[in-house]
Amino acid sequence: MMGTLLQLYPFLFLFLFLPILNTVLSQPQQLFYSGFNHIPGTNLSLTGIAKIDDKNGILKLTNETSRLIGHAFYPIPFQFKNNNGSRTFSFSSSFAIAIVPEYPKLGGHGLAFTISASMDTLKHALPSQYLGLLNSTNIGNFSNHLFAVEFDTVQDFEFGDINDNHVGININNLVSNVSCNASYYAEGEGEGRLENLNLKGGKPIMVWVDYDSVKSVISVTLSPSSTKPKKPTLSYSLDLSPIFHERMYVGFSASTGLLASSHYVLGWSFKINGTAPTLDLDSLPKLPGPKKKQTPMVVGVSVATSFIALFSLFLGFYLFWKIKNADVIEPWEHEIGPHRYSMIHKVC
Ligand SMILES: *[C@@H]1O[C@H](CO)[C@@H](O)[C@H](O)[C@H]1NC(C)=O
Ligand SMILES: *[C@@H]1O[C@H](CO)[C@@H](O)[C@H](O)[C@H]1NC(C)=O
Ligand SMILES: *[C@@H]1O[C@H](CO)[C@@H](O)[C@H](O)[C@H]1NC(C)=O
Ligand SMILES: *[C@@H]1O[C@H](CO)[C@@H](O)[C@H](O)[C@H]1NC(C)=O
Ligand SMILES: *[C@@H]1O[C@H](CO)[C@@H](O)[C@H](O)[C@H]1NC(C)=O
Ligand SMILES: *[C@@H]1O[C@H](CO)[C@@H](O)[C@H](O)[C@H]1NC(C)=O
Ligand SMILES: *[C@@H]1O[C@H](CO)[C@@H](O)[C@H](O)[C@H]1NC(C)=O
Ligand SMILES: *[C@@H]1O[C@H](CO)[C@@H](O)[C@H](O)[C@H]1NC(C)=O
Repeated sequence: MMGTLLQLYPFLFLFLFLPILNTVLSQPQQLFYSGFNHIPGTNLSLTGIAKIDDKNGILKLTNETSRLIGHAFYPIPFQFKNNNGSRTFSFSSSFAIAIVPEYPKLGGHGLAFTISASMDTLKHALPSQYLGLLNSTNIGNFSNHLFAVEFDTVQDFEFGDINDNHVGININNLVSNVSCNASYYAEGEGEGRLENLNLKGGKPIMVWVDYDSVKSVISVTLSPSSTKPKKPTLSYSLDLSPIFHERMYVGFSASTGLLASSHYVLGWSFKINGTAPTLDLDSLPKLPGPKKKQTPMVVGVSVATSFIALFSLFLGFYLFWKIKNADVIEPWEHEIGPHRYSMIHKVC
């Protein structure tokens, strides 16, 4: 009798613990990538042009070729709610990004930390100003169930962008619900002083995205160092429960357009119901140095030429767009009004 039980023991063990193991594998609660070299468990799912450099462990979402999309998502969706009808749990993520543009002052287009109910939406997304998130038919549609924090290096008038160096919170749209200059609160008295950051400066930038389920506040904090500033760059009051499904995919999207940048993620952590594990910029992989050396004269002339050419092109497009859209009120503006007031709590 005893012998039989002992023989059965390994099977009993498996039988008892398999469901738990299964839960752990299918419902992760935390991610920690200090570089993307030695990834325990499941790998990220990379689509489009995205790849991980095996030598240095850097996740490169796009290179400097035009009209590319790169996606890197955790392949298993996270559980963000107890059921479809309940409140979205708190979550927290931190990551280090770097954007290296083809031409020093001209980025193209941007990167977004993304939480999406469906990978299908992303599969059908467009590059350029769409950031690999949406396309021209599903943009603004509430049934996308898409949340993104964009790091945008192009000013798209179409989407009301404030400048070519901003951070925004987007819900099912490329028009940000709220956006701010890329900036951070440097250490100092009180909450510190606001300093500008250059997203396309080619240097690593640390980002923290936190959602407080009790207060219904999303905050986005930037810094050029590993220390999280006391005050976020951007915070916005919104209950994410109507936007989130029970299970959502978490990852990054980036795109290039006429102008292009290399978009990198150097490290990433994520956690539900708690603070994401701390990342240290010093222990993350280092960006490769500048590849080619051109004489300043050549660079100067070619940048000036492309700048003039692009400027004329943009001016042409802008004037065309201005004339075409003169005094046209979009259908949705009738519904919600062009200047809808809501409980927006914004800090920049
Ligand atoms: C992760 O990727 C590596 C190399 O690409 C591969 O050898 C390994 O089997 C993958 N692991 C899983 C769990 O998919
Ligand atoms: C970007 O990647 C694609 C595909 O790997 C390649 O064909 C292209 O040459 C790359 N562009 C640059 C600028 O390296
Ligand atoms: C939650 O909603 C999604 C999308 O409508 C659906 O696919 C899923 O089955 C729902 N889950 C439950 C538990 O009802
Ligand atoms: C836009 O994306 C949706 C998926 O969200 C897809 O069904 C639709 O066909 C796409 N539209 C275009 C024009 O690609
Ligand atoms: C939004 O998307 C849903 C599902 O794809 C579709 O049935 C609906 O018609 C779309 N709404 C608009 C306004 O395009
Ligand atoms: C902001 O988010 C809400 C979702 O709560 C959405 O319905 C609304 O259209 C968004 N506003 C803008 C300006 O994008
Ligand atoms: C935004 O940044 C620009 C420089 O990029 C600066 O001139 C402007 O004053 C900043 N705006 C605010 C509100 O800080
Ligand atoms: C998060 O916290 C809520 C209660 O606040 C709990 O119901 C839920 O199971 C927790 N989820 C995870 C993934 O820890």
